[in-house]
Amino acid sequence: MYMESDPEGSLLAEEGGKIVGYGFARRFGTLGCIGPIAVQPNAQGRGFGKRITEA
Ligand SMILES: CC(C)(COP(=O)(O)OP(=O)(O)OC[C@H]1O[C@@H](n2cnc3c(N)ncnc32)[C@H](O)[C@@H]1OP(=O)(O)O)[C@@H](O)C(=O)NCCC(=O)NCCS
Repeated sequence: MYMESDPEGSLLAEEGGKIVGYGFARRFGTLGCIGPIAVQPNAQGRGFGKRITEA
């Protein structure tokens, strides 16, 4: 649903050809919104969430 409504704001994190995280960002006029964002439990704490947020 998010990818269809805003492909530009849809981000995936990949490792070894597998998706390990995602984040969605949207803009409503002058308001920006980040989320949902999630990283697989076994990939957490290794910087994926930070890189998705920075992107
Ligand atoms: C929140 C989440 C996306 C973080 O992803 P991650 O890849 O583990 O995060 P990173 O390894 O990139 O950590 C980046 C920074 O955020 C901090 N951090 C990570 N999870 C955190 C949490 N739940 N609360 C507060 N700080 C957090 C880290 O300590 C790190 O800080 P530092 O840069 O000062 O060292 C991940 O824990 C997750 O998927 N949680 C479940 C889903 C969720 O709660 N999503 C948010 C609501 S939509």
